[in-house]
Amino acid sequence: MSTISLDHWFPSVIGKSFHPEWIEPVLNSANQLWDDPNTNLNEQFYYNGRTTHGTRNLYYEPQFKEFGEFILQKGREFLELQGYDSSAVNWRPYMFLNSFKQGSAHAKHLHSQCSISGIYYLQTPPGSSPITFYPHQTYREFFDFLYAVKDPTNWYNMSSTKYDPYPGLLMLWPGWLWHEVVPNQSQEPRTSIVFNL
Ligand SMILES: [Fe+2]
Repeated sequence: MSTISLDHWFPSVIGKSFHPEWIEPVLNSANQLWDDPNTNLNEQFYYNGRTTHGTRNLYYEPQFKEFGEFILQKGREFLELQGYDSSAVNWRPYMFLNSFKQGSAHAKHLHSQCSISGIYYLQTPPGSSPITFYPHQTYREFFDFLYAVKDPTNWYNMSSTKYDPYPGLLMLWPGWLWHEVVPNQSQEPRTSIVFNL
């Protein structure tokens, strides 16, 4: 009598790479932007945080041009690694800066009408929130409730996974994947540049 074998299909892929060389130049551009009284910031979007989301697209601003091209190249690489033809994509890059202080958070969400989403971390002082990802499987939460998860560390019933950020970390994921930033605990700003491609 053979036991059941478990095949694995349809993964939720999260890409990671480390690029310390971009921390200083991007942080310099970011600090110029935060300090500029003419910068149109969105102060309401995040509790105790600042963002350029919804006010400007940094991808098309000269001081972020080289970094934007680098990010788009990594987006292409991310798709190609998964067997997609990145030359066929109608890219519509959007890039914004986030600065989270104590209590800033971003509730569980996904990015509709985007191909790839991602983040590059610039500053992650002690207490900086992780980024948490959730399975995108219809009926999954109720299934786990009905069938009483006994071992939550079992790979098959994991309800989330999280990554602690550090400066220079680049992450990419498909826009359909649920993710969340729980309330930040750092005193100093947790700063990142976020993009949809
Ligand atoms: Fe997001």
